[in-house]
Amino acid sequence: MTEAILPLALENVSLEIGGVRLIKDIQCRFEAGPRSVVIGPNGAGKSLFLRLCHGLIAPTSGAGRWQGPAGAAQPGAAQAMVFQRPVMLRRSVAANVDYALKLKGHARAERAEIIDEALARCGLRRLRDQPARVLSFGEQQKLALARAWALRPQVLFLDEPTASLDPAATHAVEEIVQAIHDAGTRIIMTTHDLGQARRLSDEVLFLHRGRLLEHAEAGAFFENPKNDLAQAFVRGELLWWRYGRDNRRAEADPTAEDLD
Ligand SMILES: Nc1ncnc2c1ncn2[C@@H]1O[C@H](COP(=O)(O)OP(=O)(O)OP(=O)(O)O)[C@@H](O)[C@H]1O
Ligand SMILES: [Mg+2]
Repeated sequence: MTEAILPLALENVSLEIGGVRLIKDIQCRFEAGPRSVVIGPNGAGKSLFLRLCHGLIAPTSGAGRWQGPAGAAQPGAAQAMVFQRPVMLRRSVAANVDYALKLKGHARAERAEIIDEALARCGLRRLRDQPARVLSFGEQQKLALARAWALRPQVLFLDEPTASLDPAATHAVEEIVQAIHDAGTRIIMTTHDLGQARRLSDEVLFLHRGRLLEHAEAGAFFENPKNDLAQAFVRGELLWWRYGRDNRRAEADPTAEDLD
């Protein structure tokens, strides 16, 4: 049995690239259980935040620690991430899942059954022998989820899993995400689709210009966000005209209003 890796704690995590602070002093903790949805306008830092949590990039200062019940844990393959534009290997749909399982050390004999289940769960059985690279965007996103499903991670990070999908494909992907959650995987995902955030979140993290401005239980957040920018965002107001068109310009402009 693999050790439990949650909670994950971010301790004053900042990220600076090329002299620009893109992630600013984020302090938060992810416990086992709820589905977390990270929201915020384009350029807020959602993808960078997810990559920092997953350990793909290292913070410039501060630290992210998987604490586990004993206070320190090695996440290893117990966490996985699905990217907004998933990378497909130049082989069949089934072989894409097979490869992920092989990398994780599953013996050939047990792989066929896991592949079959993952493809069935994600509605891809009839496409199993298709080359993955000819799949539509929606189908590729489902395949990325099938690969993640097959690995049974404790924690799954999803970056905008339905960006550029139509409503039917979005619905299918949301059902898969829910099924992965129901099977016991901790979901931490980003979206800028507020409807999706309402449907899939138990807790919400609101990011703006690299800062975590609010981290709250979903019902309370959507009912009555405490932060005024979060309120504007939930009302569907554009934020850039108040605080700079993007992080870079706002950081560079000394007259730009700061948030703290
Ligand atoms: N490697 C990099 N070098 C320099 N700047 C970067 C780099 N990666 C991201 N940024 C900048 O950091 C900011 C946050 O980027 P990020 O991709 O995390 O935003 P996001 O909230 O995911 O936006 P979106 O909703 O468009 O996906 C942006 O202004 C982006 O231009
Ligand atoms: Mg992003």
